[in-house]
Amino acid sequence: EMGPEERAFQERIDAEIKIEAKNWMPDSYRKTLIRQISQHAHSEIVGMLPEGNWVTRAPTLKRKLQLMAKIQDEAGHGLYLYSAMETLGADRDEEIDKLHTGRAKYSSIFNYPTLNWADMGAVGWLVDGAAIVNQVPLQRTSYGPYARAMIRVCKEESFHQRQGYEILLHMMRHGTEAQQEMVQDAINRLWWPALMMFGPSDEHSPNSAQSMAWKIKRHTNDELRQRFIDQTIPQLEVLGCTVPDPDLKWNEETGHYDFGEIQWDEFNRVIQGHGPCNTERLNARRNAHENGAWVRAAAVAHAEKKQKAVA
Ligand code: ACO
Repeated sequence: EMGPEERAFQERIDAEIKIEAKNWMPDSYRKTLIRQISQHAHSEIVGMLPEGNWVTRAPTLKRKLQLMAKIQDEAGHGLYLYSAMETLGADRDEEIDKLHTGRAKYSSIFNYPTLNWADMGAVGWLVDGAAIVNQVPLQRTSYGPYARAMIRVCKEESFHQRQGYEILLHMMRHGTEAQQEMVQDAINRLWWPALMMFGPSDEHSPNSAQSMAWKIKRHTNDELRQRFIDQTIPQLEVLGCTVPDPDLKWNEETGHYDFGEIQWDEFNRVIQGHGPCNTERLNARRNAHENGAWVRAAAVAHAEKKQKAVA
């Protein structure tokens, strides 16, 4: 039942040739990409907020500079992704309005609070670590502009992951007992939410099958979650910490770690807007947007003035 255009489109995908903005694509492919890329962009922008909380309280000048650079990178990722989204014909203002009115999703993880300095380490290590595992395969996603955006994003994410891990390693090796306890506490709170970043389990993921067929996604949610756990536990052991999962165990037969059941009720609550910080995050975004209105107005006025000078 595929028409000739759709057959050519799918053949291109099967042959690993990227789809570009000007190529024909099914409406539903375009919609799925706009959905995923806009959610991804919103996540980068909202993801700046839990860290912004710590800029004034970072323990040293070096840590403050690193944190500011990381937050700035995230703003860049967001803008990069909004641009990739625009190549599909989506309107940036409209999509941002959906975020501000609670009609668009962004990553569940950013609805958790960052309570102590070790959280900055744990966010870098676990949250950016999970983001890398999810995003490295997206460098091969079938839509060209998204795939190319991911190359730079992944390079910067791996720097973020290492700086986070280094914060924790430093606290564990050179910190006081209280500081070591802060590290374990941060891991206890962020471990399960980090695993939830990969999305619902495969049997409850409505979008996976089609997105895999279109090669928008290159691996399923559960595959990537397992890959993340397998990579992360050896790093956890180097830290000398534990995760809050009594069922976590190396499985000699499968060559992977077994792990306990994720609290899907909690995940669903958070993505429906009822996590610990959803309201706070959206209020912060709306305020930032309103308080920045004069900057946008000034930029438009300046552009108009320049245009007139040329004419
Ligand atoms: N947080 C919020 N929403 C989520 C999450 C999550 N952790 N996981 C899944 N969802 C949403 C999906 O967006 C989808 O919503 P919708 O259909 O109502 O729009 C719904 O739950 C069902 O999930 P899936 O069918 O599995 O959705 P999808 O195929 O899009 O897979 C995934 C979800 C894996 C997050 C995918 O969209 C993806 O890889 N996105 C790009 C990466 C990304 O957005 N990362 C953001 C966090 S990393 C960072 O910003 C530092």
